[in-house]
Amino acid sequence: MDRVAAVRSAFAERFRRPAEHVARAPGRVNLIGEHTDYNEGFVLPMAIERDVLIACAARTDRDVVLHSLDFHETATFSLGKIERVTQHTWSNYVRGVARELQAAGVALRGIDAVLQGNVPIGAGLSSSAAFEVATALAFLATSQAEMDRVQVALLAQRAENRFVGMQCGIMDQFISALGQAGHALFIDTRDLSHRPVPLPAATRVVIGDTMTRRGLVSSAYNERRRQCEEAVRILQGVLPGVRALRDVTPEDLARYGDLLPPLVRKRAAHVVSEDARVLAAVRALEEGQAAEFGRLMDASHASLRDDYEVSSPQLDLMVELARQAPGCLGARMTGAGFGGATVSLVREGEVSAFVAQVAGAYEARTGLKPEITVTAAAAGAGIVA
Ligand code: GLA
Repeated sequence: MDRVAAVRSAFAERFRRPAEHVARAPGRVNLIGEHTDYNEGFVLPMAIERDVLIACAARTDRDVVLHSLDFHETATFSLGKIERVTQHTWSNYVRGVARELQAAGVALRGIDAVLQGNVPIGAGLSSSAAFEVATALAFLATSQAEMDRVQVALLAQRAENRFVGMQCGIMDQFISALGQAGHALFIDTRDLSHRPVPLPAATRVVIGDTMTRRGLVSSAYNERRRQCEEAVRILQGVLPGVRALRDVTPEDLARYGDLLPPLVRKRAAHVVSEDARVLAAVRALEEGQAAEFGRLMDASHASLRDDYEVSSPQLDLMVELARQAPGCLGARMTGAGFGGATVSLVREGEVSAFVAQVAGAYEARTGLKPEITVTAAAAGAGIVA
């Protein structure tokens, strides 16, 4: 039985009626453009073939009854009184999204829902954004309300910022809501303009989960964000036109970098150089220069490791092993960092050899069995049944 049929059947069994809809939203892998989105910069993610599914049907009252097949837990709340909880914390994503939908004026109906996901949690592949976007689509469908996808992404981001407390940018929710099969999405996070970019011919995207996770990611993340804001505040003294690090050029930083505390300067150096790399990477893709794209991925990793300091020994190791493996054009950590996964671009004909070598070498060095997945660029979220 496929997963859509499985959530439908679990719904029917639990609620003794058929589901009305199944909402699906994918996780993502970011190809390049890391920690740039909350600096109003550029990103290039793609949706992956891992997703969150929600089978749902409207209720006649205003209760929300959620059953998670992954956690084997049921959580219930009323749309009239939405509070954050410390038990069944996965349900906070649903509560946060319901609250934002109501704040946006959508007349929500209560729902019964069964949830199931296969985006690895905490791996930097945006399981949370997938969950938020799938939730928004489930509520919209059961309440017979419409909302355009950019608004869905913004609303899901607000839920995460306000309710979950992670001050994330827009990238993850945006790509989950608007991804296109076979393409990466180049997004300008300042004005949210975006365009699909085809992946290089005869290559595959390979995700390597290091199987390491770090707690307190959101506090380290929020701290980076504050350091970027501090850089902007100081640079505004000499560059009044600067609104975000997006507006600072490498030349500006060379000229005025001494005004910044050393750590803040390093953080800014990453963001400013990463924005330039994304633009170069998009050009490389559009000109069919896969090797150049790979080189930019490598440079992105070095910058995240040395200047932004969000990598980890396991991520660095996996990236090194990937670069030594057959067919690798480039490799880097992906997502917020501090553990989680890497992304590599690999020549199609050498993918099996690549996967075997990286998996074997990583396990031999760490004793951890990594999960290495070859993924195509998937479509964005939708109602699938
Ligand atoms: C997390 C956030 C994104 C982005 C990345 C880092 O995934 O949710 O908004 O900032 O980290 O690029």
